[in-house]
Amino acid sequence: MSSFSGKTVLVSGGASGIGERVAEEIVARGGNVVIGDVNSDLGAALNSRLGKNSAFVELNVSNNRDCVRAVESAQSQFGGLDFLVNCAIAMNAKPLIDLPEEGWRKTVDVGLTGTFLMCRAFAAHLLRRGTLGAIVNVSSIGGQHPYGGRARTAR
Ligand SMILES: NC(=O)c1ccc[n+]([C@@H]2O[C@H](COP(=O)([O-])OP(=O)(O)OC[C@H]3O[C@@H](n4cnc5c(N)ncnc54)[C@H](O)[C@@H]3O)[C@@H](O)[C@H]2O)c1
Repeated sequence: MSSFSGKTVLVSGGASGIGERVAEEIVARGGNVVIGDVNSDLGAALNSRLGKNSAFVELNVSNNRDCVRAVESAQSQFGGLDFLVNCAIAMNAKPLIDLPEEGWRKTVDVGLTGTFLMCRAFAAHLLRRGTLGAIVNVSSIGGQHPYGGRARTAR
C-alpha cells in the first residue's frame, strides 16, 4: 500500500461522496489533506473527524479567487502542496428535455470550468515553487456510455 507520508493533497469537492473517501484514505495513509468544498457544514465535520492532518477551506471551484486561496491555504497549513484531486461536481441528473438551462450551466461551471481553474491555480503554484506534482481529475464513464433517461451519445 503506497504511503502519503510527508505529502499534502488538496481535494476539491472533498466534503462528501468520492472526495470524502479520497480525503479519508489520504489521511489513513499518513498524508495531509486539504478539503475544499462549498458545503462548509459537511467540510468542517469531516475535517474535525480526520484530525490534525486535515484542514478545511471553503471553496467554490467556479470562482478563480477561491481556487487560488485554496492552493495558498495548503501552503500555509502544511508548507506545500503535492497533489490535486478534482472531485467537485453539481450534477443535474435529468432526461435531456427536462434539464433547465441553468442546471446545464451550473454543471459546466463546476465540473468543467472549475476543474480548469483548479488545475491552473495548482500549476502556477508548482511553477512558482519549482516542484513536481500530479493532478487527478475524476470523471465518469457517463461521458462515454449513455445512462437510461439521459442524453444519448451518437454511435
Ligand atoms: N457517485 C458515482 O456513482 C460516480 C460515478 C462515476 C463518476 N463519478 C464522478 O465522481 C466525481 C464526484 O462525484 P460524487 O458522486 O462524489 O459527487 P457528490 O455530489 O457526492 O459530491 C460532490 C461534492 O462537490 C461539492 N461541490 C458542489 N459544487 C461545488 C463547487 N462549486 N465548489 C466546490 N465544491 C462543490 C459538493 O458539495 C459535494 O461535496 C464527479 O466527477 C462524478 O462525475 C461519480
